[in-house]
Amino acid sequence: MAVSIARDGDIALLTVDNPPVNALSHAVRQGLWDAIAAAEADDTVRAVVIRATGRTFPAGADIREFGKPSVDPWLPAVVDRIEGCAKPVVAALHGQILGGGLEVAMGAHVRVCDPGARLGLPEVSLGILPGAGGTQRLPRLIPVDRALDMITTGKPISAAEARALGLVDAVSEPGEAVADAALAHARRLVADGTVPRPTGARPVHPAAPDLFETTRAALARTAKGRLAPLACVDAVEAATRLPLREGLAEERRLFGTLMESDQRAALIHAFLSERQVAKLPELEGVTSRPLERIGIVGGGTMGAGIAAAALLSGLPVHLVERGDDAAARARETVTGMLDGAVKRGKLDAETRAMLLSDAFATGTDYAALGTADLVVEAVFESMDAKREVFAALDAVCKPGAVLATNTSYLDVDALAATVSRPGDVLGLHFFSPAHVMRLLEVVVGRETAPDAVATGFALAKRLGKVAVRAGVCDGFIGNRVLSAYRKALDGAVLAGASPFNVDRALVDFGLAMGPYAVGDLSGLDIAWANRKRLAPTRDPRETYADFSDRLCEAGHLGRKTGRGFYVHGDGKPVPNPEVEAIVAAERAAKGIAPRPVPDAEIVARFVAATVNEGARIVGEGIARRPLDVDVTMLNGYGFPRWRGGPMHHADATGLARILADIERLAGEDAFLWRPAPLLHRLAGEGGRFADLDGG
Ligand code: CAA
Repeated sequence: MAVSIARDGDIALLTVDNPPVNALSHAVRQGLWDAIAAAEADDTVRAVVIRATGRTFPAGADIREFGKPSVDPWLPAVVDRIEGCAKPVVAALHGQILGGGLEVAMGAHVRVCDPGARLGLPEVSLGILPGAGGTQRLPRLIPVDRALDMITTGKPISAAEARALGLVDAVSEPGEAVADAALAHARRLVADGTVPRPTGARPVHPAAPDLFETTRAALARTAKGRLAPLACVDAVEAATRLPLREGLAEERRLFGTLMESDQRAALIHAFLSERQVAKLPELEGVTSRPLERIGIVGGGTMGAGIAAAALLSGLPVHLVERGDDAAARARETVTGMLDGAVKRGKLDAETRAMLLSDAFATGTDYAALGTADLVVEAVFESMDAKREVFAALDAVCKPGAVLATNTSYLDVDALAATVSRPGDVLGLHFFSPAHVMRLLEVVVGRETAPDAVATGFALAKRLGKVAVRAGVCDGFIGNRVLSAYRKALDGAVLAGASPFNVDRALVDFGLAMGPYAVGDLSGLDIAWANRKRLAPTRDPRETYADFSDRLCEAGHLGRKTGRGFYVHGDGKPVPNPEVEAIVAAERAAKGIAPRPVPDAEIVARFVAATVNEGARIVGEGIARRPLDVDVTMLNGYGFPRWRGGPMHHADATGLARILADIERLAGEDAFLWRPAPLLHRLAGEGGRFADLDGG
């Protein structure tokens, strides 16, 4: 039974039981509807408590039902039914009271909350708005500006904050079961004969006159291109000017529009893909190895970031550097990162001090890594240097320790072949700054043992990261796609676009940053070194754009030298005037007469190159499924989440159209624009990448 009814004297205790997160699926909605009706019809019942088993009160509507025809009773009617119950209804809240779950709670007359609970309306992050009265009831319980903030950002709040704002009526004592506290509350209501005021009957808190306009103006900058945040503002504004019923109707209308939108489909794809990504047939039934102590070799930005990430998740770290000075510098960098976490409220000062004294050790002796369960090598990107580290690790690490390399491009199989235990070797490609960025590519070599792979995934989970399985190739998934679209965009620059226009057009498309600006941030020398490494094997048919090399040769390496594609000062970076001249010289040398390149063409090139390389990577088995490419690009490369990732975006655009773009561009550069066989096949069959995602 999704909802069961028990009795405690004259109180009906309704229990929702729909693991894992008690999502409000049809069975739960019907169960609540019937249980409220039964409680109302039973004269011996004088109050109702709604609670849930397991880890949480309902964490929302059932996302898997989205996009399918809705089945009665729908959630808005269930919430109305609860609110309209003639007997007091008390909600006992624990876990993550999110979305429809919070709407159910707001339909109840009283809310009692566990001190560890989080409450929020995250619908906006799924491209919709709270559609079961949330936008109308929340501003009747808490100040409108706070309601607007919760609904437009989707960020949850703590129980203490919810109590201070008036969203919940009471917080249970630590250690006290919240259902007991709610029952006690219900008994008091019965004893006092109190009938609490339904949320919908309360007046909306007054709003500052310019609140909605100011919020819309701010969202125009921060939520550019997204539909849902603005619709959320419209819905909350409706609550301030319309009676409840009309406000609910307006909320429903706005909800319906968003539910039909491509953005909703894209954001749900992103949500589900991020949960699907760790589900791999090769890991079914495989247990990960122990993971209690981490070793790191190399204390530069990457090594220190990985150390900080591990420490923040509670894993003790031993970091080895080449000399005492370097070890001391690594400790300083990690300390700075933890200080940043304290500033951002992610860590308290006491824990920071404890982590640095008890959980973090630095030194120069590899022998100290002998007890580590997993060691990440994070020295600079040179096969010789990495080989040396691996030889040392092979000598000291205990049997079964996972030996990981944090390479961005290099051949994990070649490295594994140099040690006596290739089954323990894998790539863990972290993204900088490693304690902030969510993506982790788990690079699986020819010989990597399944339980070593499972340990890579377990580490990611422990660190709060999204792990994607990648096979061995130059650049794995993410950097290989990046390198493909950079070549395509360099082609646009040679054809006549300026790098600054390329960046702007792609930011308008929704990218977090333009690719040339990203290059400046990471340091132009990184890609330069990589191009030099690949030069001997470069296909003679490739058109090589060398304007980035020219910048590097002039000492302009991006932000770290104050100048790259942009000039970096105190304020916002501005275009480096030297760039246009460098590019013009290259065009002249190549005999290219520049032409205007419209934004639409820049975007089409970016999309076509990204999707084409993604298809090649899936076709070769480097990524198991298109969703692995999507999750990579969303979490490591700033691809707009509301477009779902490149492969989802391609499905939404139509694969035939993308293929046609590639075939047209092949007229300009036939080598660069060779269609991937998988794209060719799917476009021909009228197929979609989603068909290959499974699940
Ligand atoms: N519907 C269906 N399934 C859901 C779900 C939902 N709302 N929320 C989570 N799940 C599933 C996940 O897909 C996952 O399934 P698998 O085990 O099969 O992969 C499982 O529950 C566990 O989820 P997580 O791995 O995410 O577990 P977690 O402990 O890390 O996080 C959580 C739990 C915070 C609840 C997180 O799952 C989450 O944020 N869920 C989404 C919450 C949300 O957005 N709710 C609003 C829904 S929209 C709505 O309610 C609209 C409305 O008003 C009508």
